[in-house]
Amino acid sequence: MITLDLTLPDCRYPIHIGRGLLDRAGELMAPVLPQPRALIVTNDVVAPLYLARLEASLAAAGIQTRAVVLPDGESHKDWQTLNLIFDALIDMRAERKTTLVALGGGVVGDMTGFAAACWQRGAPFVQVPTTLLAQVDSSVGGKTAINHPAGKNMIGAFWQPRLVLADIALLDSLPPRELSAGLAEVFKYGLIGDAGFFDWCEAQAAALMARDADALIHAVRRSCEMKADIVGQDEKEQGVRALLNLGHTFGHAIEAGLGFGVWLHGEAVAAGMLLAADLAAQLGRQSAGELDRIEALLAAVQLPVRAPDLGLDAWLSLMGHDKKVDGGHLRFVVPDGIGRASVESDVDAEALARVLGGRFISR
Ligand code: NAD
Ligand code: GLY
Repeated sequence: MITLDLTLPDCRYPIHIGRGLLDRAGELMAPVLPQPRALIVTNDVVAPLYLARLEASLAAAGIQTRAVVLPDGESHKDWQTLNLIFDALIDMRAERKTTLVALGGGVVGDMTGFAAACWQRGAPFVQVPTTLLAQVDSSVGGKTAINHPAGKNMIGAFWQPRLVLADIALLDSLPPRELSAGLAEVFKYGLIGDAGFFDWCEAQAAALMARDADALIHAVRRSCEMKADIVGQDEKEQGVRALLNLGHTFGHAIEAGLGFGVWLHGEAVAAGMLLAADLAAQLGRQSAGELDRIEALLAAVQLPVRAPDLGLDAWLSLMGHDKKVDGGHLRFVVPDGIGRASVESDVDAEALARVLGGRFISR
């Protein structure tokens, strides 16, 4: 087991990464739980796979549990489904010290975290991420939210978990499309801050797709190291944390524009990263060779390299709901070559229109 630490001004928590950690969950969680009671939040896909093992591990450590099983999918990341968590907490007479445990991908993790932030004005929570995307990104850093029909993750809170437990063995059951979606966020770290890691991703693309354990552990470890470092500098996204949103302004517009769940989040981020790289090329900050490398890597892991044609007006309207909009102005994370990125506030409208009608939009 590898353990990383995320250190913030008023808290610090471990991120455990390894194979076979689910059966050690009770032993690893017990020290951080303020009382030996927990509500496990999961969904109807993950529950039949892993809920019983988590319950057994917590019971063996003397932790009493209840479980609530949500309907699966991004289209259920909403108020109605969130209320099922509160109903379960009321029903079990949970207290402020009762811990919420998220067992699932980013949807379950974001919703459980938001419920924990709200429950009695703030209850402890633990992340047990079961998708690659959740292990490399969403379980770390304390962003929690639900969607509004008009915009992704519009309603939420910053609320940090007490512990993250990433068991790579759980990825064995992940559908291939979901594995690819997680790799989009892995590649994002290379693009924004580590050219050597991007090189490694290119070299290891086939091994990652084959779920080679060493390759997956390295990918999760390096991604979590970078995320913990960035969040440690800027928990509330006043500066450098915005770089983690590379491709997301375009990607969130794709998700909301097509209807939540039609494209996976990681797929939308992949196509969005290419649009951001094309924007960088239009601004003279990305070479044709670098653009080709990004496209080739995404294609190598079966990610989409053409965004849907939403139409210029719809793109602009949807992106106008992005959380990075500041004073009515769109802001984009733009890669500067490979391994560096920055936030652009005054993007030339003509350059943006060329991107949204350009080579990375499907015809
Ligand atoms: P997801 O949670 O919908 O999971 C993907 C699918 O895989 C679901 O059908 C799920 O039930 C299934 N699944 C989960 N684990 C499985 C397993 N081990 N075996 C088989 N099937 C499994 O999607 P996701 O890609 O994990 O997360 C996407 C969400 O994360 C989006 O809502 C996005 O906004 C959010 N997100 C949040 C942050 C953050 O910082 N909080 C960062 C990135 C993404
Ligand atoms: N996934 C973006 C962030 O955590 O800031």
